[in-house]
Amino acid sequence: MTRHTTYPTRRCSLDMASVLLVYGTSEGQTEKIAHHVAGVLVGRGHEVELVHGRHLPESLAPARYDAVVVGDSVHGGRHHAYVRRWVEANRDVLASRPSGFFQVSLSAASERSESVAASRALVDEFLEGADWSPDHVGDFGGALVYSQYGPVQRFVLKRIAGREGGDTDTARDYEYTDWGEVTAFAEAVAADLDDVRHT
Ligand SMILES: Cc1cc2nc3c(=O)[nH]c(=O)nc-3n(C[C@H](O)[C@H](O)[C@H](O)COP(=O)(O)O)c2cc1C
Repeated sequence: MTRHTTYPTRRCSLDMASVLLVYGTSEGQTEKIAHHVAGVLVGRGHEVELVHGRHLPESLAPARYDAVVVGDSVHGGRHHAYVRRWVEANRDVLASRPSGFFQVSLSAASERSESVAASRALVDEFLEGADWSPDHVGDFGGALVYSQYGPVQRFVLKRIAGREGGDTDTARDYEYTDWGEVTAFAEAVAADLDDVRHT
């Protein structure tokens, strides 16, 4: 799993904004989404530092970036403690520049409206708990990666998937992420950065 990536590898314009993207992931879907967000931002001429929240370099200085995006997935109704801690520790930096948060979960992609609402409630709970009001918020469907689960997890996730209208054939993996939604989120962050560059 990638832990730290800088896009593009070399600065190519003094005019570009720098974005720090910190993410939490267990099975890799949030990392995949984070790379997609980074790709959109780079396509719009910005530089992105992509860092796994569990492997933050000591030298990381969030205040050096023009904008910060955080992504995290949900397991057992909770976010990763390392992401929550990082957001809480960097609340002032997050409040002082354009910022975005996206959550990744199965319930966001559920057929049941109450599950979708529960996912959104988790986003709100996380942000309220951290006392952070990002400019952009995404609530994206994740993935079912039966191939990565142990027998107990596979059994539990299959039951949850059945309840939520998801896929229960554990012989393969499934992705529920709406990449159009992810692109729209990233484009909205990019639009803010255009404003930062031109003020
Ligand atoms: C053990 C386990 C617990 C999970 N618990 C939840 C949950 O409480 N709510 C939910 O909506 N999705 C839940 N999921 C689904 C994950 O959020 C989804 O698979 C997501 O894509 C994981 O992202 P990641 O690969 O970046 O960690 C769970 C998945 C696993 C494996």
